[in-house]
Amino acid sequence: MKFVTIENWHAEPLIDYRPELETGNVLFFPVTPFVLPADAQDFLRGLNFSGGAVHKNIAYRPASDRVTGIGGDPATAERLRGIMGDYSRAVIDFAGRLLPEYARAWKVDYASFRPLEEQGRGLPLNKRNDLLHTDAFPSRPTNGDLILRVFTNIHPSKTRNWMVTDPFPVVAAKYAKSAGLQGVAEASGLAYQSARFFGSLGLPVVARSPYDRFMLHFHEYLKRNSDFQATTPKYRFDFPPGSTWLTFTDLVPHAVYSGQHALEQTLIVSRGSMADPGRAPVAVLEQLCGRKLVRESGFSRAASN
Ligand code: SIN
Ligand code: FE
Repeated sequence: MKFVTIENWHAEPLIDYRPELETGNVLFFPVTPFVLPADAQDFLRGLNFSGGAVHKNIAYRPASDRVTGIGGDPATAERLRGIMGDYSRAVIDFAGRLLPEYARAWKVDYASFRPLEEQGRGLPLNKRNDLLHTDAFPSRPTNGDLILRVFTNIHPSKTRNWMVTDPFPVVAAKYAKSAGLQGVAEASGLAYQSARFFGSLGLPVVARSPYDRFMLHFHEYLKRNSDFQATTPKYRFDFPPGSTWLTFTDLVPHAVYSGQHALEQTLIVSRGSMADPGRAPVAVLEQLCGRKLVRESGFSRAASN
């Protein structure tokens, strides 16, 4: 894998960066290619996390223009909402110009502010971000689409230190079978029926395709697998203050082992908009197990009514 540095992006001729991302690389902008006002950054770094007024993770939901993870003082909450909204819109605009084919069909997911020092956070294993893992969201199954995340380091002086390893096809070929891929694939009909059953009782249910169930499991499986953690090749990169980077975090196993004060925006990229849909993790897994792991259209919709 490579960290692909993009300098003076505005000056470049139009390049299709999709193959770089789809083969498991990280696009790195040493200078953040959109405006992030200094006073907004000061405000975020100065938020007070003692006393519980502000939670440890701040999430912004672009669709409803709302922030979660903050209580207390309404003026602070309002300023925060404005700053997160500006960041979110700036990233979406920039990423849409960088990757217009994806932008035509992506779903805008949440943005977040990560205020805490990552080193020594003492989190439970499943929440640790310093162990290599692929991302999967328990509450937002992708049904085979991909998780694209844009990060910005707004610490005034410290780098944000990442480690990544070989992309999904390599890691899945080695570990998907022992993680129980075949079992998940074969139970697929049953899972669909039980989701429909609970849905018909009016119970809240996150209808997960077999793909989403495997990815949720694989996230934790990789974190727990000491052989993988110890032996997989590691490529380290220190993202400097003021830089921005993006990658598919379900296709690229990654870990952050130190750094503080990052902003992030997630975009769910439609598999159909890929330069090569065969590189999607779902396609890789279907090839490995010889079965379909998502319904072509609307698995979650069909299962939730
Ligand atoms: C992650 O593991 O998805 C978090 C990476 C980061 O916060 O830098
Ligand atoms: Fe992650």
